[in-house]
Amino acid sequence: MQAVIAVLAGDGIGPEVVAEGLKVLRAVASRFGHQFSFHEALIGGCAIDVTGSPLPAETVAVCRAADAILLGAVGGPKWDDPQARVRPEQGLLGIRKELGLFANLRPVRIYPQLIDASPLRPERLQGVDLIVVRELTGGIYFGEKRREQGAHGEWASDLCLYHEEEIIRVVRVAAHLARQRRKKLTLVDKANVLETSRLWRSITTRLIKTEFPDLHFETMLVDACAMHLIRRPADFDVIVTENMFGDILTDEASMLAGSMGMLPSASLGDGRLGLYEPIHGSAPDIAGQGKANPLATILSVAMLLRHSLNLPTEADCVEAAVASVIERGIVTADIAVPGQHTYSTTAVGDAVAATIAA
Ligand code: IPM
Ligand code: MG
Repeated sequence: MQAVIAVLAGDGIGPEVVAEGLKVLRAVASRFGHQFSFHEALIGGCAIDVTGSPLPAETVAVCRAADAILLGAVGGPKWDDPQARVRPEQGLLGIRKELGLFANLRPVRIYPQLIDASPLRPERLQGVDLIVVRELTGGIYFGEKRREQGAHGEWASDLCLYHEEEIIRVVRVAAHLARQRRKKLTLVDKANVLETSRLWRSITTRLIKTEFPDLHFETMLVDACAMHLIRRPADFDVIVTENMFGDILTDEASMLAGSMGMLPSASLGDGRLGLYEPIHGSAPDIAGQGKANPLATILSVAMLLRHSLNLPTEADCVEAAVASVIERGIVTADIAVPGQHTYSTTAVGDAVAATIAA
């Protein structure tokens, strides 16, 4: 097949991990006889430096014209001034919103060889296989922001707003996923305090009762969920939650897999176009040193093949190659056990690409 992939490498370690993702896509293209063309565009801090905007109009146009988008990470100390009016993160939030990518899939899978990379005791990790479906284009991330000087000093507010349809569409995505998996769906909210959470709870409960009565459905408060993710992570199958809770819980859940460097994500909307990115950030502290773990990006490439290009065999092949390099101990320092030889970002990418080609 022929496909156009928009490539938004971004800042920090973004370009390093995206380079390995592209290496893997090229290996897939040559093994399976596809033609992928890559169209690079600016996002985040590097886009601010060149154009003044974290999301130039040209970048949006490149993304709209593509079949899928591969993104690295945005942000860094250079653009972190709290007084700054433009911030790299606005580019990321902007492209998610602009393309209507409301459902963010963040799977957490445990590789047996990485059990010791997790701070949790091995027996807690037995059987862990969960996916968080994070609402991505609403809630407190996108509500009105205010900051003003009042009579008694400054004040600020962030509005958290959800409409019924925004809840229904993302819950449907999560429920369909649960149906293909272990049929368990957990809605995570803070319904004992927040009105938006009470709306989520009533809409979701009704939707599941009418459209997905075959699922085992439960609700859980976000603070309790933070605890249960550590106490009994294997009990979760599909978690669906609002934007900010999903952001926080997936950083926590990444430690089940051993490292932030292991978690991929897919951001999907109504059509086939999707945006694929590691859940980790730009990690400026290790940028340019060849230390970044490229596996979260490479696993995001697998999701891209599966969800946007409809190439499940190719996606399986990439995931099998990742499992194989981990098995052979070809890993970066973040997931190595003490004393284990560690490999560079490019060495890990090379090993995955070579495994696909073999
Ligand atoms: C993520 C990141 C982003 C988010 C930041 C960089 C804006 O943390 O994708 O999880 O909060 O969505
Ligand atoms: Mg995050």
